[in-house]
Amino acid sequence: MKNFTYAITTVVHFGKGQIEKLGAEVASRSSRVLMVYGGGSIKRNGVYDGAAAQLRAHGVEWTELPGVEPNPRISTVREGVRLCREKGLDGVLALGGGSVIDCSKAIAAGALYDGDPWDFSAGKAAPEKALPLFTVLTMAATGSEMDNIAVISNPDSNEKEAFGAPCCLPAVSILDPSYTCSLPASQTAAGTADIISHTLENYFSPIETNYLADNMAEAILRACVLYGPRAIEAPDDYDARANLMWCASWAINGFLDMGKPVGWSVHRMEHELSAFYDVTHGVGLAILTPNWMRYVLSEQTEARFARYGEAVWGLDRTLPQREKAETAIQKTREFFNSLGLPATLTEVGIDSTHFAEMARKARTANFDRTFVPLSVEDIQEIYKMSL
Ligand code: NZQ
Ligand code: ZN
Repeated sequence: MKNFTYAITTVVHFGKGQIEKLGAEVASRSSRVLMVYGGGSIKRNGVYDGAAAQLRAHGVEWTELPGVEPNPRISTVREGVRLCREKGLDGVLALGGGSVIDCSKAIAAGALYDGDPWDFSAGKAAPEKALPLFTVLTMAATGSEMDNIAVISNPDSNEKEAFGAPCCLPAVSILDPSYTCSLPASQTAAGTADIISHTLENYFSPIETNYLADNMAEAILRACVLYGPRAIEAPDDYDARANLMWCASWAINGFLDMGKPVGWSVHRMEHELSAFYDVTHGVGLAILTPNWMRYVLSEQTEARFARYGEAVWGLDRTLPQREKAETAIQKTREFFNSLGLPATLTEVGIDSTHFAEMARKARTANFDRTFVPLSVEDIQEIYKMSL
């Protein structure tokens, strides 16, 4: 294990009815907030009414920014920054999934930054301060409710880039699993795939001696395998929703990658799919992940895949190592299929037109430090395997 510093300052109120704590939490830090939300799901599942009642009861004023897109756009971030400045707002309240929360992070930091907020995504500037951010989560997937990362898209230049900074951590997150019962099966499936992918990105690292993190990763993966299908079959199953939500937060809040390098390879590859074709993040991950696994499987890596097969898929210990590794990869593919997720890029309308450019843009220096280093050509090959 390498040295690390760990600090998660987000206050989490988890469980049914916890929105009751929202008003007091916001009022203790802000008096006029920007309320950010997406295409309207919060108006149908009670989140909007619950949050508005809380703000009213605690004397907090608000201005609304609706219409945040899945794969949130920099144009929406700029509009949020404009509103914060024009109305003198002193906090941001995100009501939604990862897209709404990410957009809100960029707004919260952009409001206190003199330049264009795209500078954060472009790596030209790192946020140093941000307005306090409050979130009410409606989808178990990205972990944005408990991490400091935001992923913003610029459709004009086919770019989708992440940035992160301590000041972007939400101050308070309300995690009420019952809000996720209104998710359509397709989004529950995509969210489950995203949680699995975050966990796998952390699990497959060149350093394999973090016993605590490895075992916790395996527990999160088993929980997704157990509760993902249950939530799809019975959308109101509270325990399934609750377990998925808590796993989502812990898969990417920094705990699993403490003391080891993580390349986020499949995520970098997926962000290019979303940047060029605006595909759903979890769908892109479900297509790419088993192919990435197949591509990096070798004599050097098969032991790790075999361990994954035993711990997550319950494979017989006595099977030959290679067989366990290959079966584990096949089980991963079959699981995503069973959730109703597409298995090929062709199914989501992607052909090889932009593979060379996407591979070039996907590859960062992190690909040298990851589980198996990958070149631009390797990445292109994985895209081809995914057709
Ligand atoms: O727009 P609304 O009406 O809210 O509908 C959303 C949207 O259409 C809907 N939805 C959300 N909660 C719902 C609901 N519908 C009914 N009932 C509910 N309770 O679901 C659709 C997708 O929402 P979105 O927020 O886009 O999904 P997700 O949470 O998966 O976020 C995806 C974005 O997060 C980024 C992704 O790249 C993508 O841009 N990521 C952020 C990360 C982070 N901050 O750490 C890491 C991730 O790896 C990821 O890259
Ligand atoms: Zn993700």
